Amino acid sequence: MQVRTERLILRPMTPDDLPALRRILADPVAMEAYEGAFTEAETRQWLERNLRRYEEDGFGLWAVDLADDPGVLIGQCGITRQRIEDDEVLEVGYLFRRSHWHRGYATEAASASRDWAFRERDAASVWAKIRDTNIASMNVAIRLGMTVRRRFTVRYRGVDMPHLGFAVDR
Ligand SMILES: CC(C)(COP(=O)(O)OP(=O)(O)OC[C@H]1O[C@@H](n2cnc3c(N)ncnc32)[C@H](O)[C@@H]1OP(=O)(O)O)[C@@H](O)C(=O)NCCC(=O)NCCS
Repeated sequence: MQVRTERLILRPMTPDDLPALRRILADPVAMEAYEGAFTEAETRQWLERNLRRYEEDGFGLWAVDLADDPGVLIGQCGITRQRIEDDEVLEVGYLFRRSHWHRGYATEAASASRDWAFRERDAASVWAKIRDTNIASMNVAIRLGMTVRRRFTVRYRGVDMPHLGFAVDR
């Protein structure tokens, strides 16, 4: 799977992306909504889990490269299967390196991922599970045409985190 947008390439991650992933996942500012920076072990588990998703589901979070600098991951974006309370949904996820925020890359990559889910998975809806403190992420969801559908709590890293469920229908 490879998707091109005007400025970006979405492609499968590989183990070689670990150092670039670390730049996102070990950054305490980028990882605020995840209750802080990941340890080295958590970063490796994240990558391994994502590679497993490609095998098991045929999709996952993809590496996002700049089209004019291919092979250098500046972010991650894609579709994963997620649970929201008792429901299983397809979620668009997006995490970018702080040096590449505020340029519209997350919205561009997430729009392509949303469209991929509608086109290739025949999804009726695409969701975004967003912690209620994560305003930048909510703004991406709004730019994707999403609206708030529900509220729920996620327990993650020992913390109860209120979340909003955003979604857009095909
Ligand atoms: C969530 C996250 C990806 C959002 O990043 P972002 O930079 O705010 O979003 P975008 O890449 O869509 O950029 C939008 C901004 O670029 C600006 N922009 C500049 N050039 C642009 C262009 N050519 N096209 C579109 N927007 C552009 C927009 O005006 C907007 O500005 P603002 O940040 O002042 O509102 C980022 O905050 C992040 O990686 N956070 C950490 C991980 C995380 O929490 N992920 C979400 C979990 S639910």
